[in-house]
Amino acid sequence: MRAEDWDARYAGSQQWSEGPNALVAGLLAGLPPGEAVDLAAGEGRHALWLAGLGWQVTAVDFSATGLARGRARPGADRVRWVTADVLTWAAPEGSLDLVLVAYLHLPQVDTTGLLRRAVGWLRPGGRLLVLGHDADNVAHGVGGPQDPAILHSVERLAPVAALLEVDRLEQVRRETPAGTALDTLLWGRAPARPVGARG
Ligand SMILES: C[S@@+](CC[C@H](N)C(=O)[O-])C[C@H]1O[C@@H](n2cnc3c(N)ncnc32)[C@H](O)[C@@H]1O
Repeated sequence: MRAEDWDARYAGSQQWSEGPNALVAGLLAGLPPGEAVDLAAGEGRHALWLAGLGWQVTAVDFSATGLARGRARPGADRVRWVTADVLTWAAPEGSLDLVLVAYLHLPQVDTTGLLRRAVGWLRPGGRLLVLGHDADNVAHGVGGPQDPAILHSVERLAPVAALLEVDRLEQVRRETPAGTALDTLLWGRAPARPVGARG
């Protein structure tokens, strides 16, 4: 979907819950606050929640209408809101403690390229959290985009995981009112020196 399509969707009504996804909250709640980027932040549910915990958060999305919903929420002044295409936007190398990418679905070549760049933005020990619909969700889950080509899987995220010290790379179940949805989770840390570096 293009930015205009997302703007139209956000203009209609609020799309996502106000609070964070439960798995995202469970993984991040115990971390010491630092500098974070929420890529494809949408209405900013995760950026706002992280800012409330003391994180310095930049929320990036190409839908100005989605970000405007976040900007209107309490605590929004603690978040830096950036309207930009995540495929061209960049953070300084080695500057972040966390990159969060929740439910961003792009063609695989774009996803892999974006996440490879995002790993480079992390400080040693900085965290990458990727969560989104799994390709199996189309046949065996509920909701979400129905084009398997843009969905995640353990295999598709493996090239990015290879750059990290991985804590979790797996398919996870998410209970919804409509039934069980299948997501893919990648949760890892940037190594002290890049994987594959010598000397
Ligand atoms: C399903 S929503 C998820 C929003 C948010 N991460 C969340 O979990 O609530 C997907 C978001 O990706 C954004 N998006 C899609 N492609 C993008 C791109 N190339 N650059 C920036 N944002 C993009 C859309 O505007 C939309 O807000």
